[in-house]
This record gives sequence, structure tokens and C-alpha cells, in this order.
Amino acid sequence: MTTMGLQLTNVSKYYGEGSTRVCALENVSITVEPGEFVAVVGPSGSGKSSFLSIAGALLKASEGEVTLNGLPLSKLSDKELSSIRLQEIGFIMQSSNLVPYLQVLDQLLVVKKMAGKISAEDKAYAVKLLEELGLGAKLKSFPEELSGGEKQRVAIARALMNHPNVILADEPTASLDTKRAHEVVSLIANQVKTRRIAAVMVTHDERMLEYCDKVYHMEDGKLQLTKQVHLAH
Ligand SMILES: Nc1ncnc2c1ncn2[C@@H]1O[C@H](COP(=O)(O)OP(=O)(O)OP(=O)(O)O)[C@@H](O)[C@H]1O
Ligand SMILES: [Mg+2]
Repeated sequence: MTTMGLQLTNVSKYYGEGSTRVCALENVSITVEPGEFVAVVGPSGSGKSSFLSIAGALLKASEGEVTLNGLPLSKLSDKELSSIRLQEIGFIMQSSNLVPYLQVLDQLLVVKKMAGKISAEDKAYAVKLLEELGLGAKLKSFPEELSGGEKQRVAIARALMNHPNVILADEPTASLDTKRAHEVVSLIANQVKTRRIAAVMVTHDERMLEYCDKVYHMEDGKLQLTKQVHLAH
């Protein structure tokens, strides 16, 4: 049977060799189903970003397997992996990483351009996403003309542009005030439910956990489930 969503099985990650070897992840196993929003909390250096990078095919596991919609990533070539990153995965990083010289609408279209050509439907979809995220009046703005929350929302829209099956967010609220943080995370939660995305969010912010279905704790590279919310659907 094919497991949809994102699955890590006994994933370990070591950096370096010999006496400088660091074990960043130890036997991590997790399944994130479509429509499920998972939080990962834990101290600095515990392995959270390493976990996200491996889940998102940016970094190879030392041991274990990552499967995306039943596809084992270890079996794929580098070319296939970059295509998966582009087509299947939406990354939202701590800083929004917008391109300074591109207007908001073009921040989304550049993702399509990397994958091929931009069609009229692509453009219409980019506008729709930006409108859904409350940025309809900002399509022609440059990043420096946006607030922190608006930049984060552009980054979320950009992450959704290719209809990803998986969203991986590394402290998406780190630079936001409380009100904006709630806005941004509830938007992600909403997208996860309506578009049936498997999502993982690393956060230090306890207040954001209410939006998540499950909360995992990362400590010394080990991942443990700490809270399971009753799913209404
Ligand atoms: N490229 C690397 N080379 C060597 N060691 C690394 C590398 N990246 C991370 N590490 C080490 O792996 C461990 C886990 O790092 P990671 O970045 O995954 O932690 P984190 O939980 O994301 O921390 P933070 O909350 O500070 O972002 C740390 O001990 C870190 O020093
Ligand atoms: Mg980190």
C-alpha cells in the first residue's frame, strides 16, 4: 500500500567524521498525512532544521528513508530530487527570502519560470493566492515596501504556487508580532486543510501550537510525540 503524505523511517543524520562527528538526528520516524499540520518544538541545536532539510530533500539522510507520496527519495537522482523540490514541496523559511528587485506577483511567477513557462492560468492562480492572503492591493509592491507580516504572507503564497503536497516551515513567525503571527499560522493551517497538504512547522512559539494537529518535541536529535489533538474531520 502506498502511504500518501510525508514519511520518515528511522532517519539518522551525522555531520562530519571521526572525533568531530555530530549526531544531529537519531532514529527519527514520523508520518505526516495529507491535511495534517504538525508542529516540531525543541531547543536550539536539537536537530529541527536538519529534520526539515532532510524531509524536504535538501539534505540526504545518513541512514533511514524518506518517502513522499510513497516515493522513496533515496532511489531518486539529483535531477529528480530537484524536480520534486520544485513540484511537490513548499518551503517557508525563517526569513522570507524574497528577491529584492521583484514585485510581489513576480515573486510567485519566478517559481513557475524555473519549472518552465508562465501561462495565463499561472498568472491568474498567483493573483488568486495573493488575494486569498490579503495581498491583492500589493501585487506591484517591492519587498522593501512591505511589512514583515506581508513579506511572510508573500513567502507563503510563493510556497503554495506549485500546488505542493508538502509544506515545510522553519519558524515562519520568528520576525512577527503576535497578531501577525496568528494571522500567518492560521493561514497556513487553513491551506493545509482546504488543499490537503501535509505540513510541518518548526516553532519556538507555544501560542502557535493551537493551530496544529500534533506537537512533536525534538531533543538531542530524537523526535517524540507530545500532544495529539482530536481531529474533527
Ligand atoms: N552543516 C553542519 N555541519 C556540522 N554540524 C551541523 C551542521 N548543521 C547543523 N549541525 C549541528 O547539528 C545539530 C543540529 O542542528 P540543527 O540546525 O538541525 O538544529 P536546530 O534544532 O534547527 O537549532 P536552532 O533552533 O538553533 O535553529 C547541532 O549540533 C548543529 O551544530
Ligand atoms: Mg534551526
